[in-house]
Amino acid sequence: MAVFAYIVVMNLLSCMLVFFLKRNKIRNPKQRAKLPPGSMGWPYIGETLQLYSQNPNDFFSSKQKRYGEIFKTHILGCPCVMLASPEAARFVLVTQAHLFKPTYPKSKELMIGPSALFFHQGDYHSQLRKLVKSSLSPDSIRNHVPHIESVVLSTLDSLDGCGVVNTFHEMKKFSFDIGIVSIFGDQLNEYYRKELKKNYAILDKGYNSFPTNIPGTSYRNAVLARKRLNEILSEIITARKEKKLMGKDLLGSLMNSRDENGQALTDNQIADNIIGVLFAAQDTTASMLTWTLKFLHDDPKLLEAVKAEQKAIYETNDKGIQPLTWTQTRNMVLTYKVILESLRMASIISFTFREAVTDVEYKGYRIPKGWKVKPLFRNIQHNPDFFSDPQKFDPSRFEVAPKPNTFMPFGTGVHACPGNELAKLEILIFIYHLVNRYRPKLTAKKNLTIQDDSRLLFKNMNMWEVVGSHSGIQYAPFPVPQHGLPAKFQKE
Ligand code: HEM
Repeated sequence: MAVFAYIVVMNLLSCMLVFFLKRNKIRNPKQRAKLPPGSMGWPYIGETLQLYSQNPNDFFSSKQKRYGEIFKTHILGCPCVMLASPEAARFVLVTQAHLFKPTYPKSKELMIGPSALFFHQGDYHSQLRKLVKSSLSPDSIRNHVPHIESVVLSTLDSLDGCGVVNTFHEMKKFSFDIGIVSIFGDQLNEYYRKELKKNYAILDKGYNSFPTNIPGTSYRNAVLARKRLNEILSEIITARKEKKLMGKDLLGSLMNSRDENGQALTDNQIADNIIGVLFAAQDTTASMLTWTLKFLHDDPKLLEAVKAEQKAIYETNDKGIQPLTWTQTRNMVLTYKVILESLRMASIISFTFREAVTDVEYKGYRIPKGWKVKPLFRNIQHNPDFFSDPQKFDPSRFEVAPKPNTFMPFGTGVHACPGNELAKLEILIFIYHLVNRYRPKLTAKKNLTIQDDSRLLFKNMNMWEVVGSHSGIQYAPFPVPQHGLPAKFQKE
């Protein structure tokens, strides 16, 4: 009898369970929501060929025009949902950030170092982020102004008489050197600086190449260089420990850090984060600096106004004899707006990647678990509803603060760029010295006035000249002016 009662109760319970599950399924809106509009292209390759056979920005803009601010596609082997509205970017990156994890190809993750903060979520990410953010905060980087100035001056000196250079490549050397300053302060000796530079350059060359273990290939060389970088960083860490000189720079704070269980970071975790910061800092800043120089060069009147602002500071500093101060860098009002507008126009990080960790519903659309989700920063920053006449380079638009979540060159939310103040500071200091020490030699342009043209006649002046009239964009992988903006920097 007891067995019979048990069977009846169990049956009743399972019927109730099925009933509740079914009812929930009907009521749960996630089950009813449809996928966003869009096309998925061919099996497996999806729309990757369409993406790469044209300017990627045109690809996304034409999709947005056709399908609206949320659409699906299939690129680089993954189904994706693209989001082109400020609210959607905030949803993914800020308010519901825990539903979307950062995602990178495994080969890239291994190359940079799997413990680098940008691959992580949760406690480990917060611990690392606090350290990196604090060592790149305005309070910390204000002490770097003299070091950055000295790197700017030696960069300009090194360009003198080199003939035509690829500006982007030169700016990469510059941003790498500043990255080193931000990590090691002024504590790194010349031998280690050179070794890091040499091996990082090999890593950088192989980073975007086809992943294969065949000896002699760029990828294999990059893997070996990455190992050497670990050894070099380990030696630097050991030397600091022996001297009991941790320092207040990023390396020092990584070495001093303890988690809630009192556990220190391992040498490998420290190395991964150092390489991670160098990686995040180098091409981005170099590309932005190159764009800023191009936008300035293309607008002689604006350049003249920037020069007047910078010259006033130069004169106050006894024609550059006195060092630039932090306060002066905070008062370069026009130059600062030029940088903001360059960030908007170039939108070098056109979008970022996340992956849905569960099925998510947004505005009646379903984003399935495992799909990539990409907030399209560039589309938002070029939307005429938020930036009138968006293709026009107009720094004065930043006299009024942009609407929330419409200007995100450094991202937003838990993974927003901790290096944004440093990036702007190094560009400001570079422009200060460039326009005060070099006069642009303007090549014939339709919109030059007679007054502008007269500058071509200046004698005994250092010259800075963009060579050729390349108007295109190339992807390296960030967008940079065609051929890296060939230019000549010449002292008389
Ligand atoms: C103009 C130059 C730069 C631009 C446009 C830029 C842009 C960005 C963007 C958009 C993100 C967020 C990516 C995402 O949400 O997936 C990011 C993250 C990051 N950036 Fe930058 N960045 C620049 C320079 C720098 C510099 C100079 C440093 C360090 C010295 C740096 C360090 C980082 C780090 C460590 C992260 C990861 C943060 C995290 O995951 O919590 N960046 N950057």
